[in-house]
Amino acid sequence: MQEAEGQLVVVANRLPVEPIYLHGDPDEEVIGWRLAPGGLVSALESVLRTQDAIWIGAGDQLPEVEHGSLRLEAVAIDPEDADDYYEGFSNSAIWPLYHDAIVTPSYHRHHYRAYERVNRAFAQRVAEVAAPGATVWVHDYQLQLVPGMLRELRPDVNIGFFLHIPFPPSALFAQLPWRRRILEGLLGSDLIGFHTHDDARAFVYSCERFLGLTAHEGTVRWQGRRVAIGAFPIGIDAEGFARTAGDPSVIERAAQIREEMGNPKTLLLGVDRLDYTKGIDIRLKAFAELLQDERLDPASTVFAQVAVPSRENISQYQQIRDEIELLVGRFNGALSTFGATPIHYLRRVLEREELIALYLAADVMLVTPLRDGMNLVCKEYVACRNDDTGAVVLSEFTGAARELTQAYLVNPYDTTGVSEAIVQAVEADPAELQSRMIALRAAVFDTDAKAWAEEFLHTLQTGLASTTAAVADDRDQAKLPLEQLAQARHLLVCVDYDGTISPIVADPQAARPLPEAVQALQALAALPQTTVVVVSGRALENLREVANLPTDIHLVGSHGAEVDAPLELDPAQQRLLEQCTTAAEELVAAVPGAHIETKPGSIAIHVRRCEPKAGAELIRAIVMGPGRYPGVLGRHGKEVIELSVAHAQKSDAVRALRQRFDASTVLFIGDDLTDESVFADLSGHDVGIKVGAGDSAALWRVEAPSDVALLLARLAQERAEAG
Ligand code: ADP
Ligand code: G6P
Repeated sequence: MQEAEGQLVVVANRLPVEPIYLHGDPDEEVIGWRLAPGGLVSALESVLRTQDAIWIGAGDQLPEVEHGSLRLEAVAIDPEDADDYYEGFSNSAIWPLYHDAIVTPSYHRHHYRAYERVNRAFAQRVAEVAAPGATVWVHDYQLQLVPGMLRELRPDVNIGFFLHIPFPPSALFAQLPWRRRILEGLLGSDLIGFHTHDDARAFVYSCERFLGLTAHEGTVRWQGRRVAIGAFPIGIDAEGFARTAGDPSVIERAAQIREEMGNPKTLLLGVDRLDYTKGIDIRLKAFAELLQDERLDPASTVFAQVAVPSRENISQYQQIRDEIELLVGRFNGALSTFGATPIHYLRRVLEREELIALYLAADVMLVTPLRDGMNLVCKEYVACRNDDTGAVVLSEFTGAARELTQAYLVNPYDTTGVSEAIVQAVEADPAELQSRMIALRAAVFDTDAKAWAEEFLHTLQTGLASTTAAVADDRDQAKLPLEQLAQARHLLVCVDYDGTISPIVADPQAARPLPEAVQALQALAALPQTTVVVVSGRALENLREVANLPTDIHLVGSHGAEVDAPLELDPAQQRLLEQCTTAAEELVAAVPGAHIETKPGSIAIHVRRCEPKAGAELIRAIVMGPGRYPGVLGRHGKEVIELSVAHAQKSDAVRALRQRFDASTVLFIGDDLTDESVFADLSGHDVGIKVGAGDSAALWRVEAPSDVALLLARLAQERAEAG
């Protein structure tokens, strides 16, 4: 990806620095400043370091921080406006409204006026300091009017906006007396980014409803300009966390922490800002219920909750703090014995090393927000688990749940469900935890903070937003938009093979496509502006042989590593693959029914024909053995584990094909875990269909390959008629 060019101006309410206190004690005087270790700073660090960059934030005085070419600029906020802007409009109106109105938002005209004035002060400062043609990246809900104001002052700059919190459904957004002003402010941007497609779609719905705009392929037209809208899920500095977690002194500290807590058999952990959105009370209640019902043993289970004080002048924050502290006191009073306190509650900021040691010490991470834009804590925990142990209980209502599908996902409004998930995580077989953690780590390391920042800036600077953008359409499960697919300018139809157009059978070599599916695919391929591709995890050669499909259907093998042509490995990859094969052969030899499939960039160990327990044990041995060689990626499928040395994903191939054929719309149908990378990548008018049960990022679902065949036949007919 190309590096950002020209000047970058980052605009956020907070400056990216924190004070250094004498003796590290916050009650002592400030003796200097350093860059804060927050998510946004680490995400932007690489781009900030390599180019002329300015960070503009609120502040009375400018802390003196040297950081390469980064310059800081403080916007002084009129003391008369400070509270109404921050505690008032930002955190008593927008914050609760955008978090599903968990607490009732309060709307006051004087709060909004102050918000407007502060946003104007930010826009003016940007206009003063930005170089001609600069890229300006405005962050978060405190500054939603800045893009519109800045565009009026400086039409020459390129403006991006990223919302770090959810965007509410239009039925809720409707409450806001200044809803049109906020939308107009945001639409001053060239690109508006959200964490999830749901947020992006909610924003587009509101633009349609309150401004009468119509969206097309991830963009809306506003005042003669094209405004792109997309989903850019933020990541963390995963390598950085993993590195610190591997430091011997941090590992030792983790052991010490467990000891200090009385060496519990199980340590559960929560880490959050003390905010009513985080569901800290919910997990406390679920935990206490489990101890009371003796499903967890109070003598050997500890729950540690670390809560950072936050927005303490706002009454709802004082209330949630009181509630939590009351619960902790009440539960500990009822459940403690001399020497064993089940809940440890720390209300403070931790140093990064201490936080990481705590992540390492914890067996189960509890992340139960009622609503959260992304939630970085769960990603940080996962990044620290270098030995693939540990578990995450994660609320469905976080942005992170869209990516961390192998966490124990829970509805935080259902305390019984949360309790059940905690027990499941505590009692899970280590092999299950390990395979889940491997998948979680792949997700966290795949899109890290740097990739997020680069992707956003690249989209902003090149205008190539359509592959990540979302549009408003009704993705009702019941209403598959066949008509829309039938009318697409250029339709790219991609289907997985096994379990999608070919029913699963015991012998992979015997898997044949359903004749009706082949017929429908062929009919589609014969239509103009229609490209049909089978995207399989199988080796290209093997797919060609087994599927025996007509030549006008393109083939992609090895999970996207082989697009129309066989893969070539470099000598190091070749050696690594040989080592994996030798180790796997030894393990497989001892398990009747198991067999190894060799592919150009990987080996797949199939256990479909094994006795189930033996099969599960073999997969575990593979994961623990060759699966851990550096450079090897383990992929779990249905009764198969694949170790690959060439790390393509199906989404890479679909992206490349989309570009190659200049496709306007993608239909992707798949049934397995490896298809999820594509579903997560779809946008705009694209359609993702999952075959069968199980978690999925796909928005539509059918039951079996026979449904796929029917659906493809209907599509072929409608597209032929539309053409
Ligand atoms: P939010 O942005 O709403 O606070 P996130 O989970 O996205 O929630 O981010 C919280 C950030 O704050 C994480 O980077 C986390 O490491 C940090 N954090 C949370 N609790 C503490 C703590 N007690 N001490 C230090 N850092 C903390
Ligand atoms: C969330 C918001 C940020 C905010 C942070 C801390 O992450 O998205 O914009 O900076 O919370 O809140 P505070 O009010 O202390 O800045």
